[in-house]
Amino acid sequence: MKSSNETFKTNHGIEIPCIGFGTWQTPEGPIAVDAVKYAIEVGYRHIDTADIYRNEESVGQGIAQSGIERSEVFVTTKLWNTKRGYEPTLKAFEESLRKLNLKYVDLYLIHWPANKAGWEQLNADTWRAFETLYRDGRVRSIGVSNFLTHHLESLLHTAEILPSVNQIEFHPGYMQAETLAFCRTHQIVVEAWSPLGSGCLLENPQLKEIAGRYGVSVAQVCIRWCLQNGTLPLPKSVTPQRILENADVFGFSLSEADMQAINSLPYMGGSGLHPDKIDF
Ligand code: A2P
Repeated sequence: MKSSNETFKTNHGIEIPCIGFGTWQTPEGPIAVDAVKYAIEVGYRHIDTADIYRNEESVGQGIAQSGIERSEVFVTTKLWNTKRGYEPTLKAFEESLRKLNLKYVDLYLIHWPANKAGWEQLNADTWRAFETLYRDGRVRSIGVSNFLTHHLESLLHTAEILPSVNQIEFHPGYMQAETLAFCRTHQIVVEAWSPLGSGCLLENPQLKEIAGRYGVSVAQVCIRWCLQNGTLPLPKSVTPQRILENADVFGFSLSEADMQAINSLPYMGGSGLHPDKIDF
């Protein structure tokens, strides 16, 4: 990847700009509107939101106020957990579109796999609704988020359309190697949420030492490391300087030795959310 205009191509031929602007924990209102608007102004062409982030309206306003052509920006949103199942999914999708004030989204994701009794059927029913939305042209691509190998294997038994994306927590110290390998085998693009470990990696001495040698920040090292591992980072920030910095990762390349060193870092914190253990 040499610039943020480059794309990942999905198994259905859709191109996704290689850095996405994350909005998890960005509050609804002027902060979100301005952050999205600014991100688009400085070149981001990929915005990631979700029903549960409760900022779809502001994200939509930020996109509208930026003045960008709809076809020039790739927009993702996600189905929340309480709305799984065929009919509820179709309804939830319309609600997200209304809030975003868009006619379609580029990517719709199942936010988390169901994990209680009957989870396989529930995920399959939800996915059928995603396939309907895809066939009806309401979404350009469909995928999942936080799916581990067993969730994907189960989904693939009944899916008629292969998921294009699996968005997972992915940052130094938390690589989810098994899920990553499974997605590679099935040509599912892996998107990295919390590529900075929600900020908790930024003081790590090893990452600081590496960043110092390249003359970049630890955040830039983490984002670059995602790209060089073939994953699509979704850094979140509401701070203009950081928004700029996080997209400025194409002037250096991590050496093989540094990639290996970062790949070997132990777990040093993250969200702590496990798809089979969450109870929301
Ligand atoms: P803020 O939004 O206040 O700028 P992640 O993307 O891994 O979830 O991390 C997001 C967190 O990291 C937010 O708290 C964000 O703060 C902070 N952050 C984002 N980019 C940078 C950066 N370049 N340097 C330092 N902190 C950053």
